[in-house]
Amino acid sequence: MTTATSSTPVHPSIQPLGHQLAASPSIDAALRAIVDEVRAKSVQITDARPANPGLKESYEGLMARAAAVRGRPLLYPYIGSGLGNGALVELADGSVKWDLISGIGVNFFGHSDPDLMHAALRASLADTVKQGNLQANFEPHAFSETLLAEAAKGSKLKHAYLTTSGVMANENALKVCMQKHHPASRVLAFRDCFMGRSLMMASIGDSHEGRVGLPIVADVDYMPFYDEAAAARTSPAAVTAAAVSRLEEYIHRYPGQHACFIFELTQGEGGFNVGRRDFFRALMEVCKAHKIAVWDDEIQTFGRLPRMFAYEYYGVGDLVDVFCIGKMTQVCATLYTEEYNPKPGLLSGTFLGEAVSFEVGRRVIERLRDGDYYDRVDDKGNVVQPGRIARHHAAFVAQVKALAARHPEWFPAVPEIPDIVGGVGGMMRFTPFGGRKDKIQAACKAIFEAGVVLFYCGHGPYHLRVLPPLGVMNEQDWPRVFACIEQGLAKVPN
Ligand SMILES: Cc1ncc(COP(=O)(O)O)c(C=O)c1O
Repeated sequence: MTTATSSTPVHPSIQPLGHQLAASPSIDAALRAIVDEVRAKSVQITDARPANPGLKESYEGLMARAAAVRGRPLLYPYIGSGLGNGALVELADGSVKWDLISGIGVNFFGHSDPDLMHAALRASLADTVKQGNLQANFEPHAFSETLLAEAAKGSKLKHAYLTTSGVMANENALKVCMQKHHPASRVLAFRDCFMGRSLMMASIGDSHEGRVGLPIVADVDYMPFYDEAAAARTSPAAVTAAAVSRLEEYIHRYPGQHACFIFELTQGEGGFNVGRRDFFRALMEVCKAHKIAVWDDEIQTFGRLPRMFAYEYYGVGDLVDVFCIGKMTQVCATLYTEEYNPKPGLLSGTFLGEAVSFEVGRRVIERLRDGDYYDRVDDKGNVVQPGRIARHHAAFVAQVKALAARHPEWFPAVPEIPDIVGGVGGMMRFTPFGGRKDKIQAACKAIFEAGVVLFYCGHGPYHLRVLPPLGVMNEQDWPRVFACIEQGLAKVPN
C-alpha cells in the first residue's frame, strides 16, 4: 500500500489494489480511532512531575537491564513510557519531563503528535517494513521531491540520495566530492567540527574523544571557525581576512589536492558557534576559484534556524555544491547539483529506510514549509517579520538573562565567548559556571532530576545545550521550563 499519490489522474477501476487500500474509508476510520485513543491519554500529561514511588523498583530493573546490554549505565536515567504531549514526555517511572533536547534534534514536533502519528500509522501498512535502493514504493521519491522543491528555492541542489543515518549521508557526500575532483583527496574542515562516528568522519571531526584508539584515515587541513569574541575585539572583516589567508596558505601548500571544504554553518557539537555571511562567502569563493567542492552539512541545523536552510540564513545557497540533512527529517539525505551528480554505482545500499520514516519526514517538511516558523524577508534578505523560531530564541535569551540577574554568582564572564547566552534560532546555548566541564555535566544531571532534559556541547568552554521541540512548544512554556532549570542549577555542588 503506497500512500504517496500519483500526479496523473487514474480511473478508480484500474487503480492497483494497494492504491485502493490506501483510499479505504474503513482504514481511515480505524487509524483515526487509534489516534483519538492515544490523544485521550496524551492530553492527561500537562506538566512536569516527579516519579511515582510505586514504580521505583520496576524502573530500576529496566535501568539495570539497559546497562547490562550496553555494558555501562545509561548517561541519563531515561527510559520513556512511549507517551508524551508536545514538549512533555512521560518516562517509565511515571515522571514527566520537559524534553528540551528532542532526541538531539530529531523530534521537532515533540511527543505523541497526532498528525505525525496518523502519517506513521498509515505508512506502517506498507507491504514491507524496509524499502531498498533496488525495490521501493513511491514514498522515498515523494519525500525527496518535497525536500528538493524547498531546496531549489535558494540553491542549485537538484538530486537526492537517501540513507538511514547522518554519518552515512556525510560519507556519501564525501564520495561525491572526491569522485568529482579525483585524484584530489584532502579535506578542509573547521576546527571543532563534528560529522558523525564512522572511521572516516571521526577522522575529519575535530574531537579527540571520538577517535581514541583509531587510526586517522583522512588528510584534513583545519580552518578557524568564525570567532565572535575575536570579531568583537577586532572586526568581522579582520577575522574573515585571517581565515581567507589561512585557506590560501593550505591551497598553496597542497595545490590541486583538496576535494572539498566541509561547512557546518552553525556548529552543533562544537558549541553552537554561529557564523557570518561575509565570512562564509569569502571562503566559499576561494573554494570556487580553486575547484574545491563546497559541502554544507546541515544535519543538526536544518529546520532550526530562522530560515529553513542554514544556507538561506547565511545567504550562501548559490555557492553550495553538496549538502546533507538528517535528524528532524527522520530520513537522512545527500543532495547535489547537476554538476556533482555522481557516476552510477557510487551510491547504493540495501536500505533506503522505512515508509514510516519517509512519510513522517515528508509531513515534517510540509509543516515546516506551511507553518509560521521562519522569518519573512524582503528581496535583499532583510527580515520584515520574525518567525516563530526567532521569537522563541528571544524568549529563551530573556529567560537566561533574568536567571543570571537573579544568580550572578552562577554566571561569571567567559572570555572565549561574547555572551553567557548564544546560538541561533532553535540551537540555543547558555554557559553557567564559567563553562567548566565537570560543572556543566553536573548541571545536566541536576536539571534532569528537576524535570528538564537538556545536554551539553562545546570543547571548552562547555555550554548547556538546548534543542527544543519548537514545532509544538509554546512561548508561554519558557517560564515553567526555567523554573525547573533554576531548581536544578541550585543543586549543583560548588
Ligand atoms: C553536523 C552533524 N553531522 C553529522 C552528524 C551525524 O549524524 P548521525 O548521528 O545521524 O550519524 C551529526 C549528529 O549529531 C551532526 O550534528
